[in-house]
Amino acid sequence: MHMHKLEKIWLIFGISALVVFLTVIGVSAFYLGNKPPSCLTTIDPEKVDQQKPFDKPGLNKVEGKAWDYELVFVASAFSYNPGKVEVPLGAKVKVIATTKDVIHGFNVAGTNINMMLEPGYVSEYTTTFDKAGEYLIVCNEYCGAGHHLMSSMIEVVK
Ligand code: CUA
Repeated sequence: MHMHKLEKIWLIFGISALVVFLTVIGVSAFYLGNKPPSCLTTIDPEKVDQQKPFDKPGLNKVEGKAWDYELVFVASAFSYNPGKVEVPLGAKVKVIATTKDVIHGFNVAGTNINMMLEPGYVSEYTTTFDKAGEYLIVCNEYCGAGHHLMSSMIEVVK
């Protein structure tokens, strides 16, 4: 009788520990697998070119928003579209980017812009370019044989 009760306690303890363990694993997997941190919007990676705003890569003036321009980039192995773009000095710009194939990086040297582009997700970053000059964009996620060839340039002009 005494032993029986103790076994029961251990059994309950064992099951509880298992439930807690599985919950932790499940919750972590959910958060890791669900969304990359800087990505809020989803997109069909097969139809990037047909979907707004990716049907018009480059700098587009917008009205009635908290930013003046949208700077749209489409990444694919092993390039960015556009390969070079001019931005007026002092412009408040929302950078919007995605990838058509594998994971690419989007790191703009000399700025805080450092995004991971994942297929199916849209990455965004709003910033003001308040220093004239050339800003090199490089891919900092290994994406294949041409990884080191991937680059673009933002030229901030007066
Ligand atoms: Cu794209 Cu590395």
